[in-house]
Amino acid sequence: MMESVPRSLLALSVLCVLGAVLLASAGSLLLSARLLPRSAASSSPARSPVLLCLALLPLGLWGWRLLSRPLEVLRSPDDVGYIPERGRSRGQTANMVRRRRKKGDLPPVYPNGWYHVLDSPLLLPGAVHNLTVCGEQIAVYRTLDGKVYAVDAYCPHLGANLAVGGRVVGDCIECPFHGWQFCGEDGKCARIPYAEKVPEFAKIKTWPCCDINEMIFIWYHCDRIEPTWKIPEQEEITSKKWIYRGRTEHYVNSHIEEIPENAADIAHLAFLHEPGILSGIDLRYTKSRIWDFLKHTWQVRWEPEPAPNKHCSQMFLHHASMVFGKHVSLLDVDVVARQVGPGVVFLHFSHAFLGQGIILQGVTPVEPLLQKVSHSIYYQKNIPAIVPKFILKAECIQFERDVMVWNNKKYISKPLLVKEDSAIQKHRRWYSQFYSENSPQLSFQEDSLDW
Ligand code: FES
Ligand SMILES: [Fe+2]
Repeated sequence: MMESVPRSLLALSVLCVLGAVLLASAGSLLLSARLLPRSAASSSPARSPVLLCLALLPLGLWGWRLLSRPLEVLRSPDDVGYIPERGRSRGQTANMVRRRRKKGDLPPVYPNGWYHVLDSPLLLPGAVHNLTVCGEQIAVYRTLDGKVYAVDAYCPHLGANLAVGGRVVGDCIECPFHGWQFCGEDGKCARIPYAEKVPEFAKIKTWPCCDINEMIFIWYHCDRIEPTWKIPEQEEITSKKWIYRGRTEHYVNSHIEEIPENAADIAHLAFLHEPGILSGIDLRYTKSRIWDFLKHTWQVRWEPEPAPNKHCSQMFLHHASMVFGKHVSLLDVDVVARQVGPGVVFLHFSHAFLGQGIILQGVTPVEPLLQKVSHSIYYQKNIPAIVPKFILKAECIQFERDVMVWNNKKYISKPLLVKEDSAIQKHRRWYSQFYSENSPQLSFQEDSLDW
């Protein structure tokens, strides 16, 4: 994900050299124009520009870092989306809201499909990570030759967590407690260091996973049915034509379906997302007149895809900005948001002259009503990093407005809709394909929740 070191160093060196040349020229000019004290000019003509250059180097480095480093916005579950109550901390407020909120007649809590669990570069060869996905504890690891496997985190022998001290040995993971080794391919125990024979039944549950578009995905199906579709490759990412420019991470306290349903909720765009991004994220103030001069307008259409891509749907969106009521066409952006299954979205951006890129959105259930949402942006290499970073930040502000609604709302299974809301019902019918008879419901999960 991070830019390669040689590339960064090269750019940094170029910047330093340019800075030095500029500063040296400025110093010489100052000297020649006698703007510097005569004593300084006469005593050390060669040293002053160098000292000036050294003094300004940290500023240059800071500027470089600011402009070119990927943007990272990582929010914790209580950071966004709650109105602080008097005398309570943010965490206490969030807990109160979660306890007293009516949940409504919810659909099953874990739809079947692929979920983004980790960014690929964060899983180095030989490393093991502990994940919580759909209420399950999973150990994901990478072998020294680069393959990724996911298995249940708890060892079937005596329950140690394989991701806490477990070691990668060949294609297997070795338990830190008694050294049993489980193969990532089929879950079979390959070795028990102190036993004469490895019994047939010694096995661990494996999870289908894939490593694509610089991301690792895990397949969840309540009946353990193997994947019925694949995560499509985004060729511009795998070929490095588009490069990583940043990511955001949020936790949303809602049912997973609320988040993708947003794409079919066309009316909320013109209301919740109309105020300019300068209006911020707190819905109590976004309609304030101070920032009224900047507004967004959206033209949207949502539709499901036909077979064989029935698990996909698309939102076509044209975004325009109005400044003092005038349309500024330079800020027009076209977006195609392709939802692939219940929790993955490819948001493809194109701008008339600022090029193209993509935000990959992953919505992954952690608990029944807690979703981890990530947005990672990849953009054309030749476009300055500041452009995709601005797009991601703008997306982040708009997303956090939705979070404030999701964190406090009730799910309504029979909503009161008007004709113009018809895409919402269409979306619910489309999304229901990801539930099956045995999909877990909140009613029997709730006892185990620590609310
Ligand atoms: S608990 Fe894992 S080997 Fe014993
Ligand atoms: Fe929204």
